[in-house]
Amino acid sequence: MPTMNESSYFLPVNKVEAERLMMQHTVLIDALGGRLVCAPIDLSKPGLKILDSGTADDTSFYIHNISKPWPETELGTFDLVHQRLTLPGGAPTPLATIVRQLFDLVKPGGWIQLVEAEQTGPDAGSVFHEFLGLVRALFDATGAGWHYADNLKQWLEDAGAVDVHDMTVNMGFGKKNENPDLAAGSARCTAQAMEGLVMHAKSMDAT
Ligand SMILES: C[S@@+](CC[C@H](N)C(=O)[O-])C[C@H]1O[C@@H](n2cnc3c(N)ncnc32)[C@H](O)[C@@H]1O
Repeated sequence: MPTMNESSYFLPVNKVEAERLMMQHTVLIDALGGRLVCAPIDLSKPGLKILDSGTADDTSFYIHNISKPWPETELGTFDLVHQRLTLPGGAPTPLATIVRQLFDLVKPGGWIQLVEAEQTGPDAGSVFHEFLGLVRALFDATGAGWHYADNLKQWLEDAGAVDVHDMTVNMGFGKKNENPDLAAGSARCTAQAMEGLVMHAKSMDAT
């Protein structure tokens, strides 16, 4: 969890953002059929060592910038490495390098699960399209680009991972979500993200 000036995280780091992430978490878990971890790991096994890289607000914290190599003592020690919606924050370090560094943390027989969003919304309305356009422009400006989710499987295989699976789900935001509570909550959390991203974009050097 780097400090703001070390990372390219676009949104404020505060309680309101933590609540927005929790709403987004609920939408994503719903899209994944109620699961957080899809990797076939037996989580009831005692003594598992699990890393949630780029976690939001509910675990013990270890400060690390994902764009940098991880401490050697941690390499090959994790039963499960999970990272969600964090990868572009490591730019301009190539995202393939960040994935390889994360994979190096996994012990033999362990699992890594990466969850990232494609910034696309084929059926979205015009405002959401504009929002996605802004997200894509910001991610392009950092060097992350915005089409990386499709590359995760290849990058993991290049890093040496075997038994690699990918899965695509739709996240329903606003009216696109059939659950009325999630529809209302996700509309609010998207509006909040828009506000933060517009502020960030306005503060950027235009040169
Ligand atoms: C969109 S939030 C996702 C939080 C959480 N993983 C989730 O899915 O709810 C992105 C997180 O990545 C972290 N982050 C951004 N850039 C990072 C970097 N270079 N190294 C480590 N963490 C980073 C931010 O601090 C933030 O907690």
